Amino acid sequence: MKIELKEISRKFKDADSELTIIENLSISFEEKTSFAILGRSGVGKSTLLHILGTLDKPTSGKLLYDNNDITKLNDKDLSRFRSQNIGFIFQFHNLLSDFTALENVAMPLIIAKENEDDAYKKAKEILKMVGLEKRISHIPSKLSGGEQQRVAIARALINNPSIVLGDEPTGSLDVSTSKYIWDMILELNKEMQNTFILVTHNKDLAFQLNKVYEMIECGFLNNLK
Ligand SMILES: Nc1ncnc2c1ncn2[C@@H]1O[C@H](COP(=O)(O)OP(=O)(O)O)[C@@H](O)[C@H]1O
Ligand SMILES: [Mg+2]
Repeated sequence: MKIELKEISRKFKDADSELTIIENLSISFEEKTSFAILGRSGVGKSTLLHILGTLDKPTSGKLLYDNNDITKLNDKDLSRFRSQNIGFIFQFHNLLSDFTALENVAMPLIIAKENEDDAYKKAKEILKMVGLEKRISHIPSKLSGGEQQRVAIARALINNPSIVLGDEPTGSLDVSTSKYIWDMILELNKEMQNTFILVTHNKDLAFQLNKVYEMIECGFLNNLK
């Protein structure tokens, strides 16, 4: 799926001030392409990713998915659209602590009311793809940080979403685990052929993706590759 932002702005207002984080940003993210977004802390990368993922609404402007303006959808349709099309990988995994790896990964399908047996079967397959077939009955606290993040990646990908958004997906891991997880993300991206947009601090990793942008003031995206 192709994503287009048209003259997007995002301002945060409080009683006596207005903060413009993104101003008049227009950009396209072509389908089946991987993008990295670099930029200093606080510049607005997460804000942009939340808008792309429909978790936050822009103050003005349009967000087009395959030429449809989805800012016009109501909350119910928007959340259905999100769960069918977008996978999220956050810096902190957000796994449900009382559920096993298998249940966590199957959850998006079960919420979408898919047949439970099919959901668990798919969850097993994808846990195998991330190398965790021997850990499916573990709850998150019995897994290492890297393993938890692999479960989160499996959960993000189980719907085979056409868009995967990652917000510093390896930001909380040590260097070698981070490299391992990153290689896995690249491998899965090749296999699944979806659009990946990843915010990262790591320039070396960023340049392994198809396109690289650096976010500077007011959400301007500088094209580095
Ligand atoms: N809900 C909010 N209300 C007010 N300010 C916010 C909110 N969310 C983010 N900001 C501000 O927007 C700026 C960009 O934040 P963020 O997108 O999280 O940056 P990054 O991910 O690049 O570190 C920060 O200055 C932050 O304080
Ligand atoms: Mg951030």
